[in-house]
Amino acid sequence: MKGVLLSGGTGSRLRPITHTGPKQLVPVANKPVLEYAIEDFKDAGITEIGVVLGNKGRDEIQELLGDGSEYGVDITYIVQGNPLGLAHAAGCARDFVDGDDFVMYLGDNILKEGITDLVESFRVGDYGAGIALQEVDNPQQFGIADVDDDGTVTELVEKPDDPPTNLALIGMYVFSADVFDAIERLEPSWRGELEITDAIQLLLEDGHDIDSHVVTGWWKDTGKPEDILEANRLVLEETELTREGSIAAGAQTDGRIGLAESAEIEDGAVVRGPVSIAEGTTVKEGAYVGPYTSIGPDSTIEDAHIENSVVIGESEITASGRIVDSLLGRNANVQSADELLPEGRRLVVGENSQLRL
Ligand code: G1P
Repeated sequence: MKGVLLSGGTGSRLRPITHTGPKQLVPVANKPVLEYAIEDFKDAGITEIGVVLGNKGRDEIQELLGDGSEYGVDITYIVQGNPLGLAHAAGCARDFVDGDDFVMYLGDNILKEGITDLVESFRVGDYGAGIALQEVDNPQQFGIADVDDDGTVTELVEKPDDPPTNLALIGMYVFSADVFDAIERLEPSWRGELEITDAIQLLLEDGHDIDSHVVTGWWKDTGKPEDILEANRLVLEETELTREGSIAAGAQTDGRIGLAESAEIEDGAVVRGPVSIAEGTTVKEGAYVGPYTSIGPDSTIEDAHIENSVVIGESEITASGRIVDSLLGRNANVQSADELLPEGRRLVVGENSQLRL
C-alpha cells in the first residue's frame, strides 16, 4: 500500500500566516503539521509516499521533507498545480500509485489515533474505499456519509443542505486503484471542484463496498487560527516533552516543559507547562509563559505574559501585558511603546491580520 499526502491548497483561512508559506508547514507544538501525517504513514507501515504539491510553498515543503530519508520513508513529489479539488489532487497521483491500494491523507489534518486501524480494517475486506468518520456539530460544512445499522455505507454527499447524518468524512481515506476511473467521470461541484466525496459515491454506485471507521479520538483540520491553537493544546497535552535546555535557579517552572537544547529560561522568568520552547529561544526576567503555549525558534520573551498561544519563531515579544489565544507569524515582534509619544498602539499589520485590542 502507498501513501498520498496532499499539500496543496491556498490556506486562505490562515492569512496572513499563509501569505508567505503553505498552511501544512504551520507548526503545532513546534512541529510542522505535515510531519504528523508522515509519522502516521510510517506507523501504519506505509513508507512509499507521494506528496502532491500545489502552486504554493512547493520549495519549502521539499526543503523540509527532502527525499524522506530523515523520516525513514521514501518520498516522490507530484505537482498538482492549481487546486481543482481533492479528487483532482488524487488523480494526479495515478502514475505514482501504479495500480496499488493507497491511503490519501490531507496534509493539514491531525488525527490523534493515526491511520493504522483504518488501514487494517480496509485490508481484511474487499472494498473500493475505506473512509474515516467522526460526528460533527456542523455537518453542512463537510462530506457526510449515511451508514446502515451494521456500519455499511449507503450514501455519501458533499456539504449537504439537509444532512442524512452528522458523520463527517475526515481527511483520511483508503482507496483501491478503481477510484481513478471514478475520478475521470466526475463533474465539478457547485464550488467548481472535483470532490473526492463524489468519487466515493460513484464507487458505491458501481457496486463497490465502502468500509467505514468511526474515529473516537480527536481530529483537527488546522484550516483556521483557532484550529491551530486547539491542535497545539491537544498535542501538548499528550506528547512527551523533554527538557534539554537550561533553567536558571531563580526561574519558576511548573508542569511539563519541552525545552530544546539551546533554549533557556532565565532568572526571574515563570513558565507553567504544558509548554514547548524551541531552539535558540530565551525566556527572560519578567516573562510568564503559561499553559498550552509553543514558542518557536530564535525568539525572546521578556516582560510579556503569554498563554494558550503559538509563536512561530524569530520573534521578540518584550512588551509588558498579556497575550492570550494568539497566533504570531514568523518574525512578528511585539515591543513596548511606553516611552514613545504620542501614546498609543503602533501597528504594522499585514493584509488579513486580526487584532483584538
Ligand atoms: C474537505 C472535503 C470534505 C471533508 C473535509 C474534511 O472539505 O471536501 O468532504 O469532510 O475536507 O476536513 P474542505 O476542507 O475542502 O471544505
